[in-house]
Amino acid sequence: MARAAAQYVCQECGAVTPKWSGRCESCNAWNSIIEEAARQAPPKGLSGKAGRKIEIVGLEGAEAPLVRQTTGIKELDRVTGGGLVPGSALLVGGDPGIGKSTLLLQAAARLAGQTGVLYVSGEEAVDQVRLRARRLGLSGAAVQLAAATSVRDIAATLDAANPPGLVVIDSIQTVYLDSLDSAPGTVAQVRASAAELIRIAKRKGFVLFLVGHVTKEGQIAGPRVLEHMVDTVLYFEGERGHAYRILRAVKNRFGPTDEIGVFEMTDKGLVEVENPSALFLAERRGNVSGSCVFAGVEGTRPMLVEMQALVAPSSLAAPRRAVVGWDSGRLAMLLAVLDARCGLSLGGNDVYLNVAGGLRISEPAADLAVAAALLSSATDQPAPADRVMFGEVGLSGEVRPVGQEESRLKEAAKLGFAGACLPRRAGRKSANLPGGFALTEIGHLHDLVALFKRPNPKPLKADSHGRLAG
Ligand code: TYD
Ligand code: MG
Repeated sequence: MARAAAQYVCQECGAVTPKWSGRCESCNAWNSIIEEAARQAPPKGLSGKAGRKIEIVGLEGAEAPLVRQTTGIKELDRVTGGGLVPGSALLVGGDPGIGKSTLLLQAAARLAGQTGVLYVSGEEAVDQVRLRARRLGLSGAAVQLAAATSVRDIAATLDAANPPGLVVIDSIQTVYLDSLDSAPGTVAQVRASAAELIRIAKRKGFVLFLVGHVTKEGQIAGPRVLEHMVDTVLYFEGERGHAYRILRAVKNRFGPTDEIGVFEMTDKGLVEVENPSALFLAERRGNVSGSCVFAGVEGTRPMLVEMQALVAPSSLAAPRRAVVGWDSGRLAMLLAVLDARCGLSLGGNDVYLNVAGGLRISEPAADLAVAAALLSSATDQPAPADRVMFGEVGLSGEVRPVGQEESRLKEAAKLGFAGACLPRRAGRKSANLPGGFALTEIGHLHDLVALFKRPNPKPLKADSHGRLAG
């Protein structure tokens, strides 16, 4: 009998090569290729048995109504698009210790009242999960627990006559199929185990949550393969040292992908944050230079966050640019535009940018607020503390309108801001804003620079630390 050929599979992207190499040619990851046994029987061509004709229909027709099961955790329901769809598979990824197990245990406990819930832990013993449940005050919930790693055993349990309505597998990297030679956590195992579990979920109609670990590059191990297989991919993220956790949908077959859910990690577990703006602005100190409040939108929800910049003289030949929570390429572009179009050269300075509170912003609408924070730090003049800012900056320095203006302004008014700096736009109606809310239109970065060139700057006073404050 011919010896089973080996194949080499990249554990980052799932690419298959006939030869081992130190670096994957398709994703450029180092040391990610390991040997796996090749599939015994390669799929044959179409010889032999004829297939059955498939049924072909038009686009019109009545579809079965989508029933969603709400978990009662509003932030989770928002991110999933209004609740969990029976028979769907969801992947929850995130760094170790970020709170994936906590979130899913809390969701499981909430749903346990409505439907059967099974929590399969491959990482922790039953006692550990119980201990966590007790700490969360959830001991009374009717969640069924199991510590198991064999997909064959889990499948046999789920194939029973009355399967639960929700199954959590924590985590997909710890379970394995005994028919494969590779170790748990390898791409082959992750793919085969997930496929098996998802097949049962679709057949039996239960909601399947898979927990996925994230590699140090921030991807779920065996990422591509898993992301294609499930219906919804959620990432749970947050900065270490901050209590906020953001649940973000990056793929969703049953809803939008731009919504985020905000949680706070407390000693009683994850608590929903109903008003994230207030939370992100909680530690803001008014009237300091280098700070500006950005009126952002995440999905359909407006969110105010503080952008902080520090421009400091540099002793380095290549000054430092450090960014937390924003795109460093975007910062480089803004600095170049400020230099070329407004004559503000920061080439000899270190520039640090930070989105306060650990949120990650990807909207181009943040440009104007970042520019204001940079200008404010560079000139050591506070940006107007009672104003929010938003607007996209183009390469010629023009400030362009962005979407969802009204909800940004309303959120700012709700949180007590007195006005906004925003892009110039013809025919703007400030109809629905509270009286006295002032709009300052900024057509070009020049207009913004002018805000920081006060003709009669207030005399600077030294504070108790000997620093100068406006
Ligand atoms: P966990 O859910 O175990 O993370 P993951 O499954 O993503 O690895 O979260 C563990 C962290 O959360 C741990 O560092 C302790 C913290 N935590 C709290 O702060 N409060 C709590 O009530 C719980 C259960 C955990
Ligand atoms: Mg865990």
